Amino acid sequence: MRLPLVELHLHIEGTLEPELIFELAERNGVDLPWGSLEELRAQYAFSDLQSFLDLYYANLEVLRTRADFATLTTRYLERAAAAGVRHAEVFVDVQAHTSRGIELGEVLGGVHDALQAGERTVGISSKLLVSFLRDRPPAEALAVLQQVLAGPIPVDGIGLDSAEVGYPPELFAEVYALGTANGLRLVAHAGEEGPPAYVWTALDMLGVERVDHGIRSLEDDALVRRLVDERMPLTVCPLSNVRLRVVDTIADHPLPQMLELGLLVTVNSDDPAYFGGYIDDNLAALQEAFALGAADRAVLARNGVEASFLDEAGKAALY
Ligand code: HPA
Ligand code: ZN
Repeated sequence: MRLPLVELHLHIEGTLEPELIFELAERNGVDLPWGSLEELRAQYAFSDLQSFLDLYYANLEVLRTRADFATLTTRYLERAAAAGVRHAEVFVDVQAHTSRGIELGEVLGGVHDALQAGERTVGISSKLLVSFLRDRPPAEALAVLQQVLAGPIPVDGIGLDSAEVGYPPELFAEVYALGTANGLRLVAHAGEEGPPAYVWTALDMLGVERVDHGIRSLEDDALVRRLVDERMPLTVCPLSNVRLRVVDTIADHPLPQMLELGLLVTVNSDDPAYFGGYIDDNLAALQEAFALGAADRAVLARNGVEASFLDEAGKAALY
């Protein structure tokens, strides 16, 4: 039997495939700087997080309407269903759209509509997480959160992403306090390119319930002990780590070591249209590099369920 997969670290904008960029450019009359798919694909060689983010944000120009956000999300859900995903917790970078003049409701509405439909059409349950851009002002994040809370589209949680180094989690303490006060679930990217200190402050000053990436936690033994003791989930994204040069090759990835240490690691795809694959591709790459046994694969699948924001009944239905 195929294990039910749970995706906990997925930027919906990171599922924008090159073909869909051209399709949406046509739909919206957007002039692309690329003459062909090949020319666009040639841009996908990244040297670090920032070089990826530059392309990721530029490509968003083709997303304009609620229907565009729904199309993007529906395409992701169809691909995820083929991979065996049964539950997905999806980030949306709303400021990457509102800052270029797109209405918040168009963004959240389109993603929300498609996620709701996906429960019926492809049988994937979901949570919607608004992720704030840490390289933009915390006051802007706070204003966006207030607008989200006042709006008609329900969201389940908040996250923090974009360029990490120089933007420590504690800058966003007030945003997370407002999230907590409104019953939102809390996650943050920390320890991808940033130091272990950012994982400590994500835990202590934001109160996160999951750490996105968290791979640099391995540099700090006391932090590893704490993460193990608290059964704090880490949403690890192996192909992302390779493509953004966080690790040299998949064979150098510390996932086996993380499992060995007793960390609650999950495998996820981050930005699959950019990093060479979806959750099944990430698992296949690990499988090939490490010959993970059935027991390891089962642990990873169970960890995904445990680390999700499903209620106990929802988790029980997936185990
Ligand atoms: N890291 C930080 N910010 C991001 C990422 C990532 O991998 N993907 C989209 N925004
Ligand atoms: Zn991410």
